[in-house]
Amino acid sequence: MTDNEAQKTLPKRPELSDPGRRTLIRRGHSVIHPDVYVFETANGTRFLVKDMHSRPLMMRWLVGRRCLRHEYRILKGLRNGKNIPQVYGMPDRDALILDFIEAAPLPPEDEPGERGLPGPEFFTRLKDVLTKLHERGVAHGDIRRKNVLWDADDQPYLIDFGTAVCRDGAFGWFRRQLFRAVRRVDDVTLLKLQHSYHPESLTEAESIRLKAVPWYLQVGRFLRKHVYRPFIKQKRWHERLERFKRRRHQE
Ligand SMILES: Nc1ncnc2c1ncn2[C@@H]1O[C@H](COP(=O)(O)OP(=O)(O)O)[C@@H](O)[C@H]1O
Ligand SMILES: [Mg+2]
Repeated sequence: MTDNEAQKTLPKRPELSDPGRRTLIRRGHSVIHPDVYVFETANGTRFLVKDMHSRPLMMRWLVGRRCLRHEYRILKGLRNGKNIPQVYGMPDRDALILDFIEAAPLPPEDEPGERGLPGPEFFTRLKDVLTKLHERGVAHGDIRRKNVLWDADDQPYLIDFGTAVCRDGAFGWFRRQLFRAVRRVDDVTLLKLQHSYHPESLTEAESIRLKAVPWYLQVGRFLRKHVYRPFIKQKRWHERLERFKRRRHQE
């Protein structure tokens, strides 16, 4: 099937927004994040949809649509890659349709749940997935617990390629430098993740690498903590609004 034919068979709006066909996995937690849901077609096929449709138009136009388009292009370039989602297409500028993976995000280290926690060998497999991704010229850029899925066969999946960087393309030299930097960040953040579950499983070389956190990762963490969380994350605005309403009520 060609790309154009595949696009034609994808669910379209208004069907995509039909509440009877979709189950919300996660509401976008800021004005620049998509709602993520599972969409079930009439013949029972399930898709994962990342949808910006209910975000403010200005934000969609400035950021959201670009991120979805970027993720689409990256995943299209990685087609048939193992342990990453397959991409089907964009039925319109606000939605991206992917393969739905039957797996759950990693549980928090201190809340293992019924299945317990993934073992050290899970992280060895995850490192292989990341190495293959890097060899194919893509650095992920946002490795963290919620962007790693864990299936019933103990297989890891990497998802969320909205911030991924491709080694090949326009602005060659600059792009390659960026790719190298993000690849280093990927390596360190994956070791950090492994360390948070199984600190004893890191080799001596890995423990040394974990301590050499690149300065740009430190800048990223600073911005996340002091700019993104207090000012952009929507949850904070809802909390502020609720506090404000309570205070008004008490007066
Ligand atoms: N292909 C997929 N299959 C199954 N679940 C997925 C898939 N992609 C995302 N998810 C679920 O949706 C959540 C949010 O998706 P993600 O791509 O990380 O969105 P965001 O860009 O908003 O962080 C993930 O933590 C995961 O639980
Ligand atoms: Mg994510």
